[in-house]
Amino acid sequence: MNAVAVKKDLFWIGSVNFGCLDFHGYSLAPRGTTYNCYVLKDQKNVLFDTVQAPHTEEMLTRLKQVIEPEKIDYIVANHLEPDHAGVLPELVKICRPEKIFCSVMGEKSMRGYFNTEGWPVQTVKTGDVVNTGAHNIHFVETRMLHWPDSMFSYIPEERLVISNDAFGQNIASSERFADELNRAALIHGIEEYYYNIVLPFSPQVLKTLDMIAGLKLDIEMIAPDHGLIFRNKDDVDFILKKYRELAEQKPGKKALICYDTMWHSTEKLAYHVGCGLEEAGVPYRIMPLKNHHHSEIMTELAGCGAVVAGSPTHNNGIMPAVSAVLTYMKGLRPQNRIGGAFGSFGWSGEAVKVITEYLEAMRMEIPGQAVKCAYRPAPGDLEAAAALGRTIGKALTAKCEDLRHP
Ligand code: FEO
Repeated sequence: MNAVAVKKDLFWIGSVNFGCLDFHGYSLAPRGTTYNCYVLKDQKNVLFDTVQAPHTEEMLTRLKQVIEPEKIDYIVANHLEPDHAGVLPELVKICRPEKIFCSVMGEKSMRGYFNTEGWPVQTVKTGDVVNTGAHNIHFVETRMLHWPDSMFSYIPEERLVISNDAFGQNIASSERFADELNRAALIHGIEEYYYNIVLPFSPQVLKTLDMIAGLKLDIEMIAPDHGLIFRNKDDVDFILKKYRELAEQKPGKKALICYDTMWHSTEKLAYHVGCGLEEAGVPYRIMPLKNHHHSEIMTELAGCGAVVAGSPTHNNGIMPAVSAVLTYMKGLRPQNRIGGAFGSFGWSGEAVKVITEYLEAMRMEIPGQAVKCAYRPAPGDLEAAAALGRTIGKALTAKCEDLRHP
């Protein structure tokens, strides 16, 4: 794949990693990912971000298709995480840039990762503008979206925002633009990325969206550093609206049931919770944790207003897979959810208490009685599981109605 002209003077020169399954060491990227970076050709030539170090050759090949690297005058580092700054030392050596622009926190990260002795670093803040000839780069700090150093670069002459991680998706494809991809696949990619990376920073997302609206930036293109580029006004409106919706976390009328099981007793309870939800008219998905990575659970949560988690009691606690998923979920700070717990036990029975503590730590509403059964679920236990499903289904329906008609 060659460099791609994104605008007359702006080129995509990133890398596409079809083989990336593990994103940042904690999240799944089943469709691979891209590391996007861009070159602006002007009186001062500018490189915006780089790629992960193992993709150096791929990026340099595309860079050379657009410009001799020695002619890069400025480098903008919108964020210093190694997937965007991995090639920075190599490029500083090759390009010998006049300036490297980053936020104050970006400089701190830069000095933490690299030996920056002699680098011409200039820190910038929101409101600072750099002229490159026919273009002006306006810097907009977006702290904690998703690192303290993160910032956007806005180029009004191109009506373009280079948004770094924000609005990204883990999608490796030959397509470069959002309008070229199947919309359902795009939405899945946006939700997967948001729910596994951006979710804890939803308050900052809302602030950033309000700031963009307040600044009345004229935007017809948003170019993130992962995935596809939103290149027309309709798609810009689409992604801004989608981000507001994701950040607001209004609960979806669907429940997620996740569980692990030893001898299928907890599994039986899971299916009966599902029956109860069905009776209450609430769709659900059962996700056995032997089959599903914690990342898939979070992606599913994007559409679910309720989480019902189950585990047998194991060593006075819960099964490792349930512990892992609830720990991951808690760290990502989902809001406005309803929760429930169930599980079987042999002699001590702590599992539902441990699960409930996780749900409470996530400030979930817990409307139903947790269901626990000894050894094999008796008919009464299965009915209790169905009742839990019905209770959660009714509570979720009411919550969704309240939000529709406040
Ligand atoms: Fe895509 Fe924060 O790195």
